[in-house]
Amino acid sequence: MNVELFVWVRNLHVVVATLSIMLFFTRGVLLFNGAEREQLGPLRWLPHIIDTLLFLSGVYMAYLLHRLPGVDPWITTKLGFVLLYIMLGMFAFRWCKRRPLRVVAWLAAIGVFLEIVTLAVTKQFNPLLLPQLF
Ligand code: HEM
Repeated sequence: MNVELFVWVRNLHVVVATLSIMLFFTRGVLLFNGAEREQLGPLRWLPHIIDTLLFLSGVYMAYLLHRLPGVDPWITTKLGFVLLYIMLGMFAFRWCKRRPLRVVAWLAAIGVFLEIVTLAVTKQFNPLLLPQLF
């Protein structure tokens, strides 16, 4: 495996993961404070590009490391959480119209995101490990 390429892709993955949660957080704060979708500007399309880069860099690293979903429990759990994060985000920003439920889904998505980071770093599914990362 080309180690330099792997390190480059992992750095990209971590940078876009950070941007992804910052954009997700900001979008929620603006929308829940009365902003219309049209007023969001680049926040309407930028997250799609960032999240696509996040997903593709992750899949490419999994390929380089031969980590297969269904075989490797770590990557299977991570993909499950990524799916849950996407679903909660769609619920909060698109499907649900009731504000309190949208806020709950948004907060839950942020919690799931933090668990994905914990899982990525420790390779263990254990929410209690989160504080140890900081
Ligand atoms: C919300 C989405 C995601 C977040 C927040 C995230 C976060 C991270 C972080 C922080 C790391 C660096 C861990 C470290 O080495 O210290 C990492 C590594 C990695 N991620 Fe992700 N990731 C996400 C999605 C994905 C997806 C969709 C895949 C693959 C399908 C993936 C596959 C990987 C792989 C293979 C590594 C390298 C693990 C290693 O060094 O052994 N990630 N991820």
